[in-house]
Amino acid sequence: MATLETTVDGIKMPNPFVIGSGPPGTNVRVIKRAFKEGWGGVIAKTVSLDASKVVNVGPRYAKLHSTDGKEVIGWENIELISDRPFEKWLDEFKECKDEYPDGVLIASIMEEFNKDAWCEITERCQEVGVDAFELNFSCPHGLPERKMGAAMGQDPDILGEVCSWVNAVSKIPVWAKMTPNVTHIEDPSRAALANGCEGIAAINTIRSVMGVDLETLRPMPTVEGYTTPGGYSSRAVKPIALRMVMEIAQLIRKEFPGRSLSAIGGVETGRDAAEFILLGGDTVQVCTGVMKFGYGHVKTMCDQLLEFMDSKGFETLDDFRGQALDCFTTHAELVRMQTERKSAEKAAKEAMVASDGEWDGDDFVKQSDQLAGN
Ligand SMILES: Cc1cc2nc3c(=O)[nH]c(=O)nc-3n(C[C@H](O)[C@H](O)[C@H](O)COP(=O)(O)O)c2cc1C
Repeated sequence: MATLETTVDGIKMPNPFVIGSGPPGTNVRVIKRAFKEGWGGVIAKTVSLDASKVVNVGPRYAKLHSTDGKEVIGWENIELISDRPFEKWLDEFKECKDEYPDGVLIASIMEEFNKDAWCEITERCQEVGVDAFELNFSCPHGLPERKMGAAMGQDPDILGEVCSWVNAVSKIPVWAKMTPNVTHIEDPSRAALANGCEGIAAINTIRSVMGVDLETLRPMPTVEGYTTPGGYSSRAVKPIALRMVMEIAQLIRKEFPGRSLSAIGGVETGRDAAEFILLGGDTVQVCTGVMKFGYGHVKTMCDQLLEFMDSKGFETLDDFRGQALDCFTTHAELVRMQTERKSAEKAAKEAMVASDGEWDGDDFVKQSDQLAGN
């Protein structure tokens, strides 16, 4: 019987499905609900020391629907990190761990470029018993105006320095969450891993503008007649996320074997998860999917992933993790392989007997086989 159980950076999880930082992990009530429904872990909504600087607006979401209007394909948000007081969060982290000691609770943290602030937030969160950290270097909107989030994630030197501060005081695993809004995601990932992070999480949302309302002529989501570019998530981002996860997995294989990778972006089914695991993901995060389908959806995804594993004879996630990574190469190599196969086929065809005068006593059996196509 196949199992979804997995241990990542020493943390035991019942399955690889982790709630991605965002509304589905935004307070103690919803985090407990996630544990109750059987999620492998929860990454809480990103916290900072001073929530008074965080002021959200509404509407702050906008959806892209399929042509028939029945499905949500893409989702933009201009939501900031948590607007709830840090002290309240510490109480709630503790309450979650007291009530669900086996529930894997990961604190997502973000601060300005200030060593004392990063060390303080790290130490105070680990004191209340969270299992790991995710460093948010990746929010594409609002926070970069304060040189936080993606503004840090886009600068490998700054990101590396922050990782070294956090890792100097953290006694628990640290993942760095990457922004996709860069040209080469390997550069910030390398900086995080070189500065002691146990793992990488990717991707956060892709900077986007959802659309323009053709009635009002205003860009969306429209707040007081205006908008600001936001972060794109949901099914539409999966191909981009798969590419970036693949690139980070190749980096880990080559330069940092043994480090972990938490894959994120458009996961809605167990089969989506299987694809990310085949490209090297140790865990798979889901954020918008929970907003679309609810907390109970984890059971469906677990069943679908187990079904896939049974169909292929895989007993554990280790049996297929990273297997598809070997099948990436350069375009030049694709051309070389295809040319080689075509010329081999042509040679085989030319070697076939075309008229009765070509039959030969020595090659008689071979010539017969060739004409039979085997
Ligand atoms: C409404 C919303 C709020 C989010 N807030 C955060 C956040 O506070 N911190 C963070 O690291 N990522 C945040 N994210 C990003 C998600 O964790 C995730 O990286 C991204 O949405 C892609 O995954 P998905 O397609 O499964 O949603 C947020 C996403 C959404 C949709």
